[in-house]
Amino acid sequence: MPCGRLAAPALALLLAAPAAALDLIGHGGPVGALDVDGARVLSGSFDTRAILWDATTGGAARVLRYHDGNVTAVIHLPGGGMATGGQDGRIVIWDTDGLRPVFATPHGSSQVAGLSLAPDGATLAAGFWDGTIATVALDGYAVADWQAHGDRVMGLAHLPDGRLASAGSDLRLAIWDGADALAARTDLPDLPNGLDVTQGRIAVIFAEGALRLFSDDARLLPERFLTDRPLVAVAAQAGLVAAAALDGTIWLLEADLLDTRFEIEPGNGPVWALALGEDSLFAAGGDGTIRRFALADGARQGDAAAPEVEDFDDGSRGAEVWRACAVCHSLDPDDRGRAGPTLHGIFGRPIATVAGYDYSAALHELDIVWTPDTVAALFEYGPEAYTPGSRMPEQRLPDPEDRAALVEFLERMAH
Ligand code: HEC
Repeated sequence: MPCGRLAAPALALLLAAPAAALDLIGHGGPVGALDVDGARVLSGSFDTRAILWDATTGGAARVLRYHDGNVTAVIHLPGGGMATGGQDGRIVIWDTDGLRPVFATPHGSSQVAGLSLAPDGATLAAGFWDGTIATVALDGYAVADWQAHGDRVMGLAHLPDGRLASAGSDLRLAIWDGADALAARTDLPDLPNGLDVTQGRIAVIFAEGALRLFSDDARLLPERFLTDRPLVAVAAQAGLVAAAALDGTIWLLEADLLDTRFEIEPGNGPVWALALGEDSLFAAGGDGTIRRFALADGARQGDAAAPEVEDFDDGSRGAEVWRACAVCHSLDPDDRGRAGPTLHGIFGRPIATVAGYDYSAALHELDIVWTPDTVAALFEYGPEAYTPGSRMPEQRLPDPEDRAALVEFLERMAH
């Protein structure tokens, strides 16, 4: 049937075209974790949620709420389940419907840095900032852990033979043959920021801007200095390695000799998470939008603009400063979707009093009323010093003129 053969490619194109145009928009804060499995994209955000997306429609299929604080790691499990890890130190396992956890470890004092699934699909491994690695057996949820590094685990991934590779802030790359059984170890020349595995090769990104490949017995293979900025995100799959720098530049490299397929500068601020799909590279970061690029050449597949800062943009210096806040805070009275509480009516309001917003316990203990002076002080000294225990990430406005412009803007816009 020659007619059928001709029709098929045209139909495929028709179906593929709208899908390729969609970015994934819905998080209320920076996105720091991504995983792709076919048309299912899983993301973890500072807004304390993970979202399961249908990549063909661009819609959020499920919102997974359980963590207290940033969701720092996400991964698909066999059979449609999911696992998430958080700033709260918990590993949470979700059913296919993502409505409620089927298993969760207790709160821990140190955050989950990454998750990896063993190739046989039977064991999940998590690395923590206190240097431990924990494994969870997926048929019964038995947990084992061991001290893998002397400092933060910065990344971990399974090798095809089931062994586990991990990199730590103790400047070591280690290969584990099961819990606590060290198979190989090597010293690293600089601070690693992440790790992934493809085709038995371990790709490690570094703060100095280098990407290094290691063999499955921890020998150094090709390395490339991509930039003088820190590399902060990595994803490897099917012979490709994607890496992103703090300034948002993204590279896609062939995993054998690290030849560049493309280098792009999307210009949307820092990229904190990358994932490789069949035809798309997914990238997400500071502004909470998950953007797509063609794996073939890096062409943009979506057209998301920056979040709705424009609504409040009156062209002033204060509006410019506000851009950094708008990812997490709205000025609308009834905005509920963001990582932080709405700042509508902020002046004259005691701290931690927006109804329905789930503040950190520590904030309720503080005796602060928000005025132009106290909001300026918050960003002169930084949230860590001025509001200890706050989930708001540490940030400061060192220039007094920026602080003055911000509070002047809020005085005009926040009511
Ligand atoms: C990455 C997300 C994020 C960014 C960016 C951010 N904040 Fe926040 N902010 C939060 C969170 C989360 C809280 C609530 C803290 C908690 O409950 O521990 C908060 C709390 C606050 C509060 C206290 C609110 C209250 O009701 O007591 C103020 C004021 C504030 N932020 C102002 C700002 C301003 C101004 C900026 C920009 C200069 C900014 N924030 C940037 C996440 C953010």
